[in-house]
Amino acid sequence: MNSRQVALITGSNSGIGLATSVYLARRGYTVWATMRNLDKASELRAIVESEKLPIEIAQLDVCDDSSAKNAVAQILQKSGRIDVLVNNAGYGLRGAIEEVSLDEWKQQFETNFFGVIRVTQAVLPQMRAQNSGAIVNISSVLGRMAIPFSGPYVASKFALEGLTETLRYELAPWNIKVILIEPGFIATKFQENAQLAQAAQRDDSPYAVFKKASGRRVQRNIYRAAPPEKVAETIYRAITHPTPKLRYAVGRDAWLVLPLRRFLPAGLFERILKKQLGL
Ligand SMILES: NC(=O)c1ccc[n+]([C@@H]2O[C@H](COP(=O)([O-])OP(=O)(O)OC[C@H]3O[C@@H](n4cnc5c(N)ncnc54)[C@H](OP(=O)(O)O)[C@@H]3O)[C@@H](O)[C@H]2O)c1
Repeated sequence: MNSRQVALITGSNSGIGLATSVYLARRGYTVWATMRNLDKASELRAIVESEKLPIEIAQLDVCDDSSAKNAVAQILQKSGRIDVLVNNAGYGLRGAIEEVSLDEWKQQFETNFFGVIRVTQAVLPQMRAQNSGAIVNISSVLGRMAIPFSGPYVASKFALEGLTETLRYELAPWNIKVILIEPGFIATKFQENAQLAQAAQRDDSPYAVFKKASGRRVQRNIYRAAPPEKVAETIYRAITHPTPKLRYAVGRDAWLVLPLRRFLPAGLFERILKKQLGL
């Protein structure tokens, strides 16, 4: 049996998942860096080989039941335990709520919300048997506050926040830590990989003028993006803490906006945000 702590990370071929895989492996974890498409593993493989890191690469599509079960079975067979699960895989879907088709809504939730449930359910029997573990769910600042034209993403992260808060109570008897990470802008391929709803691509969209204006304002803040290693470092700090908090914000923008959201009267916060977004 492996004596190192074993971590399973989803969406590890890119951005936060890749940075977290490398960060935890450098600190002695055996990392199972999983991804839905193994052809995308080359960047990670190059780091693993050059640093001789304890990282295993495995296929896991969070939208596929048998893929999640097979990945967990493979890890247990080879490493014998799972101490940390980082539910990281996710993408953004843009468009006004009216313009996003139900199929597009469902796909967004299939990945960002049901994907987390699927992998968590596959891992929990082992963590309960161990009477220990840590589950880290990558939420977002947008899990605590809404912006327009990202409704499916915002809703999926709000749902993830409720799920995680519930899990934290349910898993306390087995000493399983449950943690939310709430990043602001992070410099990854997230914006590039975000999808735009079909109907929102039409020039005659009734929302076009508002979307353009607020999109420009949001883009303006991207230069403030924190590196994904900041998220990795926060995850490490949380999972190694004996009594981690429920929520960890990451990045200067998150540190600024989340307290404002919490302490300002709701009407004032809404007026400030509308002004910021040019609405
Ligand atoms: N970047 C930000 O500003 C930011 C801010 C707040 C929260 N987040 C959250 O951080 C997490 C990671 O995003 P990122 O910034 O690192 O973006 P990213 O570079 O686009 O990485 C997203 C990862 O998720 C994977 N993924 C998507 N669907 C999947 C599926 N069905 N099964 C398995 N993997 C899947 C992607 O794989 P493919 O390459 O195959 O698509 C990719 O590896 C997401 O949950 C996101 O919501 C990001």
